[in-house]
Formats: sequence, structure tokens, C-alpha cells
Amino acid sequence: MSGSITFTMIKPDAVSAEHTGKIINDILEGGFNLKAMKYLRLTKEKAEAFYAVHKERPFFADLVAYMTSGPIVAAVLEKDNAVADFRTLIGATNPAEAAEGTIRKKYATSIEANAIHGSDSDENAAIEASFFFSSFERY
Ligand code: RTP
Ligand code: MG
Repeated sequence: MSGSITFTMIKPDAVSAEHTGKIINDILEGGFNLKAMKYLRLTKEKAEAFYAVHKERPFFADLVAYMTSGPIVAAVLEKDNAVADFRTLIGATNPAEAAEGTIRKKYATSIEANAIHGSDSDENAAIEASFFFSSFERY
């Protein structure tokens, strides 16, 4: 199978609640192919760099504290139309607004502790994949 890629992180709230296996199963059942995956804990520096686009937002410090509060699972996923289809699978940022059956509806606890990340464009998917996986570095 070939297709475009997206990048995801199962966030600390979902990992610590032991939702990792169920979320990976939902991703595979959604038609995505796992291209790379690792379990790690973000440093403050790495979380700040990953979310640099949000550094002027009022929630930035809280977001960095939350994303470094425990381990995450980072992965690269492949599917036709990966970025848009994955954002449909995970649902709205705020789980209160997420559609029934989406990963955030099922597993997120708040707008911040929202269980999972999904890239917002093909360009950012490539940048984010290369941020975590040397096999996705662009030369
Ligand atoms: P993500 O990047 O994690 O896939 O989420 P997203 O595109 O749906 O949302 P985005 O606007 O990029 O926000 C990034 C993450 O920041 C946290 N957040 N907290 N307290 C708040 O109002 C607030 N708003 C956003 C969430 O963890 C969100 O996923
Ligand atoms: Mg985003």
C-alpha cells in the first residue's frame, strides 16, 4: 500500500490511562498503515520546539507542561489523503465537540488533555515525522 503520510502522538493522558492499544487498533481499523512508531518522553525543549507555532498562545506553557508530564507514543501513518482522513478519525480539538466514535470523543478528557495529535497539513506532517524519525529526514 502507498499513500500520503501524517504524523501522530498518543498524548500523556491517553498513554497513562492505558488507552494506547485501543487507539492503535482504531488507527489500523481506520485504514492507516504504521510506517514508524516509538515510545518516548518529550523534554521541555523538544515540546517547546514542536509547538513553537503556538508560543504566543495563552495555553502554551500549560501545553508544554502537559506534553512533558509523561511518556507519549509517536508514529508516522500512511494512507491516501492521510492528513484529512486522520483528523476526521480523531475528531475536534475539544472532545466536547468531537463527533461520536472519534478517538477524542472516546478517550480525551479535556481540550488540552485530548488524547492524540494529528498533523494539520502535508507540509507539517513531513516536518513532524522528520522531527522524531531519522528515516523521514529530508536531504
Ligand atoms: P493537535 O495539533 O494536537 O493535533 O491539535 P489540534 O490541531 O486539534 O489543535 P491545536 O490548535 O493545534 O492545539 C494544539 C494542542 O494544544 C492544546 N490546546 N489547549 N487550553 C486550550 O484552550 C487549548 N487549546 C489547544 C491541545 O492539546 C491541542 O491539541
Ligand atoms: Mg494542531
